[in-house]
Amino acid sequence: MDSIAVLDFGSQYSQLIARRLREVSIYCELFPHDTAYEQVERIHPAGFILSGGPASVLAAGAPRLPDYVLPSGKPILGICYGMQLLAYHLNGRVITSARREYGYAQLHVQHASPLLPEGTRTVWMSHGDRIDRMPPGFSTLASTPNSPIAGMGDPDRKYYGLQFHPEVHHTQNGTTILETFATDLCGIKPDWTPRRMVDQAISDIRSQVGNNRAVVGVSGGVDSSVAAAISYQALGDRLTAVFVDNGLLRIGERELVQSALAETLQIPLVVVDAAETFLKALKGVTDPETKRRIIGEHFIRTFEDAVRNMEPVDFLVQGTIYPDVVESSAPDRSQAARIKTHHNVGGLPEDLSFKLVEPLRYLFKDEVRKAGLELGLPASLVNRQPFPGPGLAVRCLGEVTDERLERVRQADAIFIEELTSAGLLGNPVAQALVTLLPVRSVGVMGDQRTYGEAAVLRAVTTEDFMTADWARIPHDLLGKISTRIVNEVEGINRVVLDLTSKPPGTIEWE
Ligand code: XMP
Repeated sequence: MDSIAVLDFGSQYSQLIARRLREVSIYCELFPHDTAYEQVERIHPAGFILSGGPASVLAAGAPRLPDYVLPSGKPILGICYGMQLLAYHLNGRVITSARREYGYAQLHVQHASPLLPEGTRTVWMSHGDRIDRMPPGFSTLASTPNSPIAGMGDPDRKYYGLQFHPEVHHTQNGTTILETFATDLCGIKPDWTPRRMVDQAISDIRSQVGNNRAVVGVSGGVDSSVAAAISYQALGDRLTAVFVDNGLLRIGERELVQSALAETLQIPLVVVDAAETFLKALKGVTDPETKRRIIGEHFIRTFEDAVRNMEPVDFLVQGTIYPDVVESSAPDRSQAARIKTHHNVGGLPEDLSFKLVEPLRYLFKDEVRKAGLELGLPASLVNRQPFPGPGLAVRCLGEVTDERLERVRQADAIFIEELTSAGLLGNPVAQALVTLLPVRSVGVMGDQRTYGEAAVLRAVTTEDFMTADWARIPHDLLGKISTRIVNEVEGINRVVLDLTSKPPGTIEWE
């Protein structure tokens, strides 16, 4: 497999570099900068990209290039900190600028190259240090008013450095720069297609599981459904899918799982009806983290019971996707404070002695969706809205009761239906949801006084769900949604709109 190894020096944009390349069908993986070559070798890199990072190469103890990169003789593209590292290791000079440069800049190309063709374009800058003297063999490719050396290159060795960030969408034609590096300079054929992803995953599962049996927990979400579909292609009837209906699901969720997995794809599916148990356990609970903990524990117990009744299984398939893997392995990001406990359905029951199979471990969300369609899952499932493991329990602020769940379920369905018919769901609205507040207010309906609950509309635009902005939905549409919810959902008499970005807000309210 010809690929690119992206070495991560801790920039908040590192994952985006990998995503951009995958979007143009080039396989690449992100590795912490101190990864040993034995691990990187697995993907047969034809070139290296060095990411940005928060450190200064001038600081003692700042991360340096691993010792295998320069001797490999392969093309290298350094971005921001990565560019400064190239200068540091190849005898250039890096200095700290008098002021940081952050935001948009106009890039003027001085010497056209395949990487940066002639012209002027907008780029995104975020740096403190800059190159003062290029290493021998390099020449200036481009500059901005604040960065005389915004791009440099040594075409003989195929070493390139960019001070700006081609991976963020504020940089015009940034993906083309990364693509050109991979194809023209590293000689990679862009053939990382959905079919190849699926075939690769199937052969990996077969070699891992052999003739043994496996179980997969499905939630109705995209990741677990695709993991189940791929594993079924690999293992056939040696796979059983378990779906726990916890009573905290959206309208039609159980039916969708049954029709897509059991009927269309014919995956052996065990459905456990556990709604009553979950509701009982949640009675009187209002604290968000307590709700999440109770749901997580009950899920594991219910799942264990279901598995105990089956033929013995050795393997558990999990829909872990690449951003989860990267987030938990990146040294500089794993210290992040715990904002919410994420109890993913399908989470590993700790005291069960399963071996773990993670067929989506190296795929980004959009690749998981493409693989799902390739496997014959319906678009209605593959393009579903993200939905938290603890389900509607964290969208019913205050106590979770049957009655309140039904309110939020119906209101949510109306919101989603209207956004879908207006063509806004997916793009630009990445996620939309309704949350029920534990607040009652007075209203009037048909000459009668009402005293009902308030519902909040939350719709966001986001690329990665780590940061988000509130979506600007047309006022007339908001009016229509509000009217429908108040008229059609018993017990809700007021609708309000959430205008908070993330940060400081999170997407879900709990
Ligand atoms: P927040 O609310 O943290 O959500 O801004 C970010 C994204 O994650 C989803 N989310 C969850 N997904 N288990 C999940 O699998 C969870 O417990 C969970 N909590 C939030 C949320 O819907 C949004 O897409």
